[in-house]
Amino acid sequence: MILLAIESSCDETSAAIMVDGELKSNIISTQLIHSEWGGVVPELASRAHQKSIIPVVQEALQKANINKNDLNAIAFTRGPGLLGALMVGTSFAKSLALSLNIPLIEVNHMQAHVLAHFIEEPRPQFPFLCLTVSGGHTQLVWVEGPLNMQIIGETQDDAVGEAFDKTAKLIGLPYPGGPLIDKLAKEGNPDKYPFPMGEMPGLDFSFSGIKTSILYFLQKEVKLNPNFIEENKADICASVQKTLIEILLRKVKKAMREKNCSSIAIAGGVSANSGLRKRLQELGEENHWDVFIPAFSYCTDNAGMIAMAGHFKFEAGEFCGQDVSPLAKYAW
Ligand code: KG4
Ligand code: ZN
Repeated sequence: MILLAIESSCDETSAAIMVDGELKSNIISTQLIHSEWGGVVPELASRAHQKSIIPVVQEALQKANINKNDLNAIAFTRGPGLLGALMVGTSFAKSLALSLNIPLIEVNHMQAHVLAHFIEEPRPQFPFLCLTVSGGHTQLVWVEGPLNMQIIGETQDDAVGEAFDKTAKLIGLPYPGGPLIDKLAKEGNPDKYPFPMGEMPGLDFSFSGIKTSILYFLQKEVKLNPNFIEENKADICASVQKTLIEILLRKVKKAMREKNCSSIAIAGGVSANSGLRKRLQELGEENHWDVFIPAFSYCTDNAGMIAMAGHFKFEAGEFCGQDVSPLAKYAW
């Protein structure tokens, strides 16, 4: 079964080819235009997707040595994401499927982040818990099967990726700031500035409080010393990163206890964070958990994970019609 997958939910245009569940190519074109604006500009994202989608799909076919006439199905990200950006991938997938007379498979981007764990060994056994952390979402997902998962906790305001990116902006780092905070944090003291963690009931998260306390803290310090940020950048990054990771892992511990579970996975862009990867590994050793951490290439947005989700849906016979439309918010 030869599957083409397309991802266009945010600022990455990506296409992948999967043959019988094996990933043959995964081409990602990252839109650099947003960095000068300090965040993703939706209209610019849509236009960049329009420009890149054909060359990206062609490259994915070429790299996998597949002719488009050999495709058996097309999977695409239906949502959640930026509506205009999703529209480009959805329209492209629909048109190509119509012209080739092959079935279409719609994929939920957040579920695909979880299923990225099945692209390569080691693959988790069901059931397991997945902490899915990206620029737009922070979720604890209970995964009982590839097409059977439910959200058992999520953020009530900002996503953790947003907390990374907004902190980065406050200290003058370009977008996306998450990876830059990660890099600077390696040289800083994580205990220098203790930020309050707050406490949400149950398994939910909140990151708006910490964002505000970072802002007030920086404003206060800069008043006393205008060079405060420049002089203490690494320590600020290390302290913020430690706090954000601690907030995430507290809830992971709670959920693992409640579910009596011993398998934990992380997924989404923020799962590329080296501090989170290290702390989760340590926590796993302490608690005798099996810990699943994706390869860097499958953490941030990519069509390989859309292909994996599409593959499972193909096997289950879950197709959609030409009347499908993208969803900025995708409830499940
Ligand atoms: O999953 P993703 O690529 O896109 C969304 O679906 O949102 O996640 C992007 C997010 C951004 O907020 C980015 O700053 C964050 O992932 N991110 C990181 C790291 N790499 C990416 N955050 C912290 N440390 C990193 N190494
Ligand atoms: Zn994502």
